Amino acid sequence: MSGARSEAAAQGRFARFIGWVDERFPLTAMIKEHATEYYAAKNFNAWYVFGVLALMVLVIQLVTGIFLTMNYKPSATEAFASVEYIMRDVQWGWLIRYMHSTGASAFFIVVYLHMFRALLYGSYKNPRELLWIIGMVIYLALMAEAFMGYLLPWGQMSYWGAQVIVSLFGAIPGIGGELVEWIRGDYFISDITLNRFFALHVAAVPLALILLVVMHILALHETGSLNPDGIEIKERKNEKGIPLDGIAFHPYYTAKDLVAIVIFLMLFAAVIFFAPEMGGYFLEHANFEPANSLKTPEHIAPVWYFTPFYAILRSVPSKGWGAFLMLMAIVLLFFLPWLDRCRVKSIRYRGSSYKAALAIFVVSFVALGYLGLQPATEKVYVYASRAFTIVYFLFFLLMPFYTRAEKTRPVPERVVYKAGS
Ligand code: HEM
Repeated sequence: MSGARSEAAAQGRFARFIGWVDERFPLTAMIKEHATEYYAAKNFNAWYVFGVLALMVLVIQLVTGIFLTMNYKPSATEAFASVEYIMRDVQWGWLIRYMHSTGASAFFIVVYLHMFRALLYGSYKNPRELLWIIGMVIYLALMAEAFMGYLLPWGQMSYWGAQVIVSLFGAIPGIGGELVEWIRGDYFISDITLNRFFALHVAAVPLALILLVVMHILALHETGSLNPDGIEIKERKNEKGIPLDGIAFHPYYTAKDLVAIVIFLMLFAAVIFFAPEMGGYFLEHANFEPANSLKTPEHIAPVWYFTPFYAILRSVPSKGWGAFLMLMAIVLLFFLPWLDRCRVKSIRYRGSSYKAALAIFVVSFVALGYLGLQPATEKVYVYASRAFTIVYFLFFLLMPFYTRAEKTRPVPERVVYKAGS
């Protein structure tokens, strides 16, 4: 048989095999629905790569996590030493561990940028409210996952960070004290706490995250992706039912996303190989000392991705109110689709009031992040935290007013796209 004929025969066999699968499982239908016939607007810009990057980091965390679990010991007497063992003795253990610790920070970087994109283009607005809410639940799960993972190396900051955050539940009136005991499983952060955080970190929360991400993508594909112009491309279709401004996700966006993935992996590798501690921001210096319940570190600060909320917590003198405000700072984000009253979605056509509010909000969020890293003993930091906390809350609480009165520009009928952009 000639080469061409044997190739044709092999293709025929493959097609028959796919046909066999399709009769039993909707494989081709799913590929069509979610890739080759999923139409996204042709004007996506760089802000649209962070969802795929978040997916990529999730996979990195799951795979490296499985390998770490093979050598990690979830016990108060062995945990710290087992991490050192992974770093020094396990083959490629240092790489797996640094990928996982850098992955945690990378996760929050891409997710914060992903969420910011929604603020730029109004992705949370009707009909994508549920997609946004699922995203917010993912964000909460991610915070829980990172917090519990941080206890596992059983360093000083693991121990005292957990001590501070778990004790916050004590501020809940009535049930607080008992709730804290229930979470810890003990009268202090102990081996028992470590064991349950381990179970939640390696099994329960990752499973929930995977499920939530699947729901997130399904919700996205139900409404369709938005785009930088904030125009619903489904409203203008050709005779075949294909959106006029749409292009197939595969191969067009898979190819474009691949470029983003390569750039991301280059930056990720640069951090892992040249600055895995990132000056104490990704791996805090105090965590290179084993946990000691008798010695409080001089200055307790969470990892950078929690510091905006930590600054809000500390800005209030009462622990109870501080914890409440910290919670509200996150809860308010859930209500964004209803707080924003402007009909125009994309910032490109929105009024200057929203643009200014968003810019001030970003400044306050970054400033709170910085202040949350500083020692609370300095009064100036406390006052600054208070001021930015007020700004943070005003962004949400005044939103129904400044967005209703916005002077918007006319939104074009079709998306604006320049080739090569
Ligand atoms: C593990 C974390 C997450 C993953 C893997 C993920 C994945 C994705 C993917 C692949 C997309 C489509 C591509 C894109 O628009 O970038 C998307 C869109 C979206 N995501 Fe996420 N996401 C995550 C977290 C979040 C969070 C925390 C939020 C918000 C609270 C969120 C809100 C949205 C919204 C509103 C869209 C639609 C954007 C639009 O069409 O304009 N996502 N997500």
